[in-house]
Amino acid sequence: MYRMGEEEVRRVRKVIQSGRMFRYYEGAECARFEKDWARHVGVKHARLTTSGTTALYAALVGLGIGPGCQVIVPSYTYMATALAVLAAGAIPVVADVDESLTLSPKDLERRITRHTRAVIPVHMVGLPCDMDKIMRIARRHKLLVVEDACQAVGGGYKGKKLGNFGHATGFSFNFFKNISAGEGGGFVTNDERAFLRGSVAVDCCAYYWNPEDKREDLQFAGHNFRANEFSGALLNVQLGRLADMLKRMRSHKQELLEVGIQAGLRSIKNNSLEHECGTHLGFCFRNEKTARAFCDHLRAQKVGAFLPMDTGRHVYTRWDPILRYQGAHHPALDPFKIPANKKCRVRYTKGMCQDSLDILNRAVLIGMHPDHTRSRIGQLARAIGGGAKAVAGN
Ligand SMILES: Cc1ncc(COP(=O)(O)O)c(C=O)c1O
Repeated sequence: MYRMGEEEVRRVRKVIQSGRMFRYYEGAECARFEKDWARHVGVKHARLTTSGTTALYAALVGLGIGPGCQVIVPSYTYMATALAVLAAGAIPVVADVDESLTLSPKDLERRITRHTRAVIPVHMVGLPCDMDKIMRIARRHKLLVVEDACQAVGGGYKGKKLGNFGHATGFSFNFFKNISAGEGGGFVTNDERAFLRGSVAVDCCAYYWNPEDKREDLQFAGHNFRANEFSGALLNVQLGRLADMLKRMRSHKQELLEVGIQAGLRSIKNNSLEHECGTHLGFCFRNEKTARAFCDHLRAQKVGAFLPMDTGRHVYTRWDPILRYQGAHHPALDPFKIPANKKCRVRYTKGMCQDSLDILNRAVLIGMHPDHTRSRIGQLARAIGGGAKAVAGN
């Protein structure tokens, strides 16, 4: 969350005063956000849910992913990406990231088997994946693509908004994201069937809100991950703030990237510098020792910097439920144990993505903020320049 203030307070107060907190019947906020979000992304359908996790789950269920399917996920993502695959009954297969810190197209292709049905490219820390290559591979192998744009809300790739490339896309609006309702999420798609099925998955009554809809394939037991009008109200205000915030962060990032390059640093691979979110600036170093020395230098100057390796459950080596093959609360429901997945189970080890560990241990990310002043940008530039000098030759 970057900006939240009086406008949000007014909007939520109005919902309370109206007494219309339920999104159906007379509620208008969730419906409005879904319409505006779909338009913002440039897709036909959007459905709000309670989180990014449930949004990804809905996208997978919507597209028919379930037992018998392998789904490739990158080694660097919050573990919810892989857990959403398990929630749908399928088996996650973990693939390396490259120096863009996003899914390596090369490793994606290497990990495809005859059981692979889908891939989830994750646009981590606001950085878009190499969607041209990923979509080419997906087409060649007839894979479904679910973009995980939970950390890249509002971002783009080569002039098109994220959410336009895959068959469906999940977003998160939790506290840490570009726009926020505290918790929240949503999925978008151009595929009407996926939209309707995904909607039932996250709202067991979704089918019945449209009594004219007589489709058999929509009459399955869903959950309730339905959004409420408070979230809708917050997000409607937040959406209005998004474009300006991202523009400012992109511009700060590009300026500071240039400072780093001039000082002799090497950038991570940016797949679409002009269109990404700009929330994080990243540099790559020769080894972990140099990366840590650079990071320590920045922190000593009160600059928020970190190694991707240190971000807890965002690296596969910390995805305990996966590494321990505990895929559900009950063994009879566990995708790792059910007969339908017998042929597509895989073995997980802490060393299965060595290239990722190497990269995540020698990259440094620096967080941007839309409210950085010129004076703060100057401080960041001096810290980056000083850090580059401190590690020069290492
Ligand atoms: C890449 C990624 N995917 C999925 C999620 C899950 O989103 P949520 O926390 O809203 O369930 C997150 C959340 O941090 C995330 O960063």
